[in-house]
Amino acid sequence: MAETIVRVESSSSPIALPSRPPDPCALVVFGVTGDLTRRKLVPALHALAQARELPERFALVGTSTSVGAAAELREKLRESTARFSRLQPFDEAAWGGFAGRIDAVQGDFNRPEAYAALRAKLEDAERRHGTGGNRLFYCAVPPAVYPVILRNLKQAGLLRAPGDGPWSRVVIEKPFGRDLASARELNRLLGEVLDEGQIFRIDHYLGKETVQNILVLRFGNSLFEPLWNHKYVDHVQITMAEEIGVEGRGKFYDQTGVLRDMIQSHVLQVLALCAMEPPVSFRADDIRDEKFKVLRALRPVAAGDTVRGRYLGYAREPGVAPGSRTPTYAALKLHVDNWRWQGVPFYIRSGKGLTKRRTEVSIHFSQIPFCLFGSEEVCARIEPNVLTLRIQPDEGIALRFGCKEPGDALSVGTVTMDFSYAASFKRPPGEAYERLLLDAMRGDATLFARRDADEQAWAFATPILESWDADPAPLPEYERGSVGPANADAWIHRDKRRWRPLA
Ligand SMILES: NC(=O)c1ccc[n+]([C@@H]2O[C@H](COP(=O)([O-])OP(=O)(O)OC[C@H]3O[C@@H](n4cnc5c(N)ncnc54)[C@H](OP(=O)(O)O)[C@@H]3O)[C@@H](O)[C@H]2O)c1
Repeated sequence: MAETIVRVESSSSPIALPSRPPDPCALVVFGVTGDLTRRKLVPALHALAQARELPERFALVGTSTSVGAAAELREKLRESTARFSRLQPFDEAAWGGFAGRIDAVQGDFNRPEAYAALRAKLEDAERRHGTGGNRLFYCAVPPAVYPVILRNLKQAGLLRAPGDGPWSRVVIEKPFGRDLASARELNRLLGEVLDEGQIFRIDHYLGKETVQNILVLRFGNSLFEPLWNHKYVDHVQITMAEEIGVEGRGKFYDQTGVLRDMIQSHVLQVLALCAMEPPVSFRADDIRDEKFKVLRALRPVAAGDTVRGRYLGYAREPGVAPGSRTPTYAALKLHVDNWRWQGVPFYIRSGKGLTKRRTEVSIHFSQIPFCLFGSEEVCARIEPNVLTLRIQPDEGIALRFGCKEPGDALSVGTVTMDFSYAASFKRPPGEAYERLLLDAMRGDATLFARRDADEQAWAFATPILESWDADPAPLPEYERGSVGPANADAWIHRDKRRWRPLA
C-alpha cells in the first residue's frame, strides 16, 4: 500500500539560548592551499563574515609550502569560495571586505625558520587588526604533519599557557590517529604542549544542525524520552551512505577505509548522542561525560556481527595499492550494555559508491503487543512505528504510524508525518564548519571530541580492524549505485529485521 505523507509546519516562535560572541582573534591556517581550506574553511569564514558573525577584530594568516604572496592567495581563495560557498550568487563586495583580513606566509612546517616567519607575520596581523593576541591554530594538514607543527609551535613560544591573558587554541582535523596506539600517542603529545581545554578535535558531523537537534528532540520534548529505551524500542539503525567513490583521494582512502573514515568517528558520535542519558546541564563537559559513558558501554563486536564489502572498480582507482583489502562498505551490529539499552541492537552501516547520499538515524519501535483488528491479514499489515531523523540531505524528521484508511471496512494503513527543515524554517541548515569555527573562537568545546571519548572510540574500533586484517576471506563486491553487498541484506534478515530502503 502506498504511504501517505503528512506535512507539518513550524508554528511557534523559537526560543534562543544566548550564545557568547566569538572572541577577537587571529586564525592561523596550516595548509591554506589544501582542499579542506578551499572547499570548507574559507567559504565558512566568508559566510560568517557576511552574516556579521565573525569577530570584528579578526585576521587570517594562511601558511603552506606553496603559498605565494597575500594577493595571490586572496585571488585563489576568491575563486574557490565563489565556487564552493553555500551563499549563491557570490557577493563580490562582501568578499572584498573579508579578503582584506587575509595574509600569507610561506614555510615548510618541518623547518624551525618557518615559525619565525610565521611569528613575524602573525604579530603584524595582530597589530593591524587589533585582535588582542588571541590565537586559533588550525591544522588543515595531513595527520602525519600534526606532531611536527605542535612541537615547533611550542618551541617557538607561539602557544600561550591558559591564564588571564590572551588565549591559544589548536584545532585538530580528523582522522585523529589510525588506531588506539596512535591516538594515544597523539594525545600524549598534545598533552605535553597544551591543556585539554585548548584542544579542539574536530568532527564536522557534530557541527550539523540536524545532529545537534538529536539532543533537542530528545530533551526538549516530553513525548519521546519515556519511550527511548529497551521497553519500547526494538532496534535502531544508523546509515551513512555516500554516492561518491574515493574521488581522486584513493591513496588516502586506501590507508583509511570505511571503519576509520566514517564509523570510528562520525557514526559513533551520532550513536552516542542517540543513546546517552540526559546530562545534568548543557555545558560541554556534562554532555561529553554522558557521551563517553555510551562509548564505554559498547560491547566488543562478535565475529559474525560485521559485514564488509567494496565497490566494483575500487581496485582500479588511482592510488589504491595492488592487492588492497580496504573495505568501502561496512555494517555492524552493536550493543550498548547498560540499563536503558539492554537487548536493543544498533545496526549501523556506511559505504561509498551507494545508490544515494543519505545519513539518517531510525528508531524502530516494538510491534504492538496485541492486535485488535480482526483478521490476521489486517494485523500482519500493521507496521511498527519508526521515527527517522534525517541528518542529510533533505534534513528533517519523519514519524511513521498506523492509521485507519477511509471507508466502511476496517483497513489499517501506514502514514508518515514529515517535518522538513527547509520547508519549516524557509532556509537550509547552516554549514557545520561555520558553527564549529565560531565555537572554537568562543572556547565552547561541546561539539568537539574529548580525549577520553576519542580513545574509547578507538578502543572499540581497533579490535575490529585487527580481526579484519587477520581475515583472509575475499571481500564481497557490490555494484556502484547499489545498496551495498548482497550479504548485508541476508545478514540483517537473520535477525528478522530489514534495512530501511536506501533508494
Ligand atoms: N578535504 C576534506 O574534505 C577533508 C575532510 C575532513 C577532514 N580532512 C582532513 O583535513 C586535513 C587536510 O586535508 P586536505 O584534504 O585539505 O589535504 P591537502 O589537500 O593534501 O592539503 C594539505 C595542505 O597541507 C600543506 N602541507 C602539507 N605538508 C606540509 C609541510 N610539511 N609544510 C607546509 N605545508 C604543508 C599543503 O601545502 P602545499 O600543497 O603548499 O605543500 C596543503 O596546503 C587532513 O587531516 C584531512 O584528513 C579533510
